[in-house]
Amino acid sequence: MTPELLLIGVGAGDPDWVTLEAVRAIESLDVLFVVVKEGHVDELVQARRVILQRHRSAPLRTVELQDPPRPWRTAPDYGAAVRLWRAQRRDQWAAAVAAELGDGQTGGFLVWGDPSLFESTLAIVDEVVAGSAGTLTRRVLPGISCVHALTARFAIPLNRQGRAVQITPARLIAGGLPEGVDDAVVMLDGRQTFALIEPAGIDIYWGAYLGTSDEILISGDLREVRDEIAMVRAEAAERKGWMFDTYLLRRRLTDG
Ligand SMILES: C[S@@+](CC[C@H](N)C(=O)[O-])C[C@H]1O[C@@H](n2cnc3c(N)ncnc32)[C@H](O)[C@@H]1O
Repeated sequence: MTPELLLIGVGAGDPDWVTLEAVRAIESLDVLFVVVKEGHVDELVQARRVILQRHRSAPLRTVELQDPPRPWRTAPDYGAAVRLWRAQRRDQWAAAVAAELGDGQTGGFLVWGDPSLFESTLAIVDEVVAGSAGTLTRRVLPGISCVHALTARFAIPLNRQGRAVQITPARLIAGGLPEGVDDAVVMLDGRQTFALIEPAGIDIYWGAYLGTSDEILISGDLREVRDEIAMVRAEAAERKGWMFDTYLLRRRLTDG
């Protein structure tokens, strides 16, 4: 039987956000592949350990994939550096899967939040499967993303009735909310972009370390709360040594 790879979304923070499907998948694994990243945050590794402790009854064989260095911040050709990194990852993962996963076995990756949202795991696994000449399949199990964790915490709808919402990395809103966009969820913000954009008419719903004991939530008129968020964020990042935050920017609509 063809071996299978499972990309298991494990939720974006709280171990209670692991679905029953994910729990069954974790129990069914023969091998767990763990990507070990340069400068990886210990707390995220620990969070995955807690999930395994809770949801895996038998010992689990674990194969570590040491992530190739990510030199593109300093690389003269950004695109070429990213392509090289992806090819290195694909070759490394393909070799590990071929060596470690036998006929009929199931291998898995625990993916933070949902595997479809700002994650490279799925793209690399797709390449591994494509290169396997039909000897490998893959399945994706959805997880609770930080986007839905955020909207749940504030008890707000992600989209307003009949309207669109954009999910964006922070670098794409450095010039403010794009023309025609009134609702944007912002992720991967390394430089407090919310404090740099024109705040007029915009509300913010900001969440850091969602689903963990360090969770912080602040919301309000962007002009009024942006300094407070910047201060709280900087203090938390300093104290913990890392930061994970997501926010919704919502333009107030005038009638008519
Ligand atoms: C590489 S992306 C992974 C997103 C993940 N796949 C998901 O579904 O939430 C990492 C970014 O997600 C956001 N993020 C993930 N978990 C978070 C959490 N618990 N609290 C706040 N933001 C989070 C942050 O913007 C972070 O920079």
